[in-house]
Amino acid sequence: MKRIGMLTSGGDCQALNAAMRGVVKTLYASKEEVEIYGFLDGYRGLIYSKFRMLTGKDFSGILTKGGTMLGTSRTPFKTINDPDENGLNKVEAMKQNYYKLQLDCLVILGGNGTHKTANLLREQGLNIVTLPKTIDNDLWGTDMTFGFQSAVNIATDAIDCIHTTAASHGRVFIVEVMGHKVGWLTLNAGMAGGADIILLPEIPYDIDKVIDKIEERDKNGSRFTIIAVAEGAISKEDAALSKKEYKKKMEKYPYPSVSYEVAAAIQKKTGREVRVTVPGHMQRGGSPCPYDRVFASRLGAEAGKLILEGQYGFMVGYRNREIVKVPLEDVAGKLKMVEPDATIVKEAKLLGISFGD
Ligand code: F6P
Repeated sequence: MKRIGMLTSGGDCQALNAAMRGVVKTLYASKEEVEIYGFLDGYRGLIYSKFRMLTGKDFSGILTKGGTMLGTSRTPFKTINDPDENGLNKVEAMKQNYYKLQLDCLVILGGNGTHKTANLLREQGLNIVTLPKTIDNDLWGTDMTFGFQSAVNIATDAIDCIHTTAASHGRVFIVEVMGHKVGWLTLNAGMAGGADIILLPEIPYDIDKVIDKIEERDKNGSRFTIIAVAEGAISKEDAALSKKEYKKKMEKYPYPSVSYEVAAAIQKKTGREVRVTVPGHMQRGGSPCPYDRVFASRLGAEAGKLILEGQYGFMVGYRNREIVKVPLEDVAGKLKMVEPDATIVKEAKLLGISFGD
């Protein structure tokens, strides 16, 4: 008999359900008897013992469904060791609930923050297997996270739609793409959508270089310019500030987000009409694309296999076209960023795309 706890934590994304289904299908397909405990709303469910017993039926028909059937929440790692408002020790509570239910293992689906807590629970002696979810694709130890390709599709669709109206009006259009502090989503959606300028957190931009590109296009007869801006993009001046100086500047920041700052600067310096579109959380919503359905199912199957073999303490990831197991201690606390001199960036530059650097 294997008793498995499962939870999804952090911002949701497409294919969370597909990944959980992959784990459970693999377990059920084995000779082993299994009991599945689904903790609700992320680590909160494990802390406050809110769970549902799940059977095969719960996992039927969910391959194509976005969101997470278990619900999710953000439980910041930064404060995980602080007592809650009633003085409860959250880490101890999670351990006690794990032991009370006599779990053999916890399957945790999440991104960066989630992996820090997962690793902490591993250090505390719990058996953990994790799966890499996030539209940001910023998890260290895996070339790809599920949710990413679905989000690339949605962000690309947004850029495609903007393309036709930008061309009609001869305007500069900015599409702001999610991705937190990394630029994978913007880089891929920007290239897929034919953006002329791509601004990433990893490559601080110079607004004059951005304007040079717009004017070069104008001179060459292109009436419009599409700029894909990562939500975490930063100017060269801001990147040069100390953390303290930057924080101070942000306290009086007059814009809703960086895209509006870029738009205002272009408008002021060139007198051109600039429009900003922010697809926002749409990028995390809807059905997983076929790639993510297959990918999450594969990761889920390999996680199920690890559990059946009693191999714990790993994230199931993807490297060099192979599904691999990566020790949790190697994953926790590291970000996978776009290297400014990565081949894909060089190729984008060969195509004439400006990064404003
Ligand atoms: O990490 C996924 C993500 O969608 C990021 O791209 C974005 O910065 C963040 O979550 C938004 O978080 P929230 O849903 O809490 O607003």
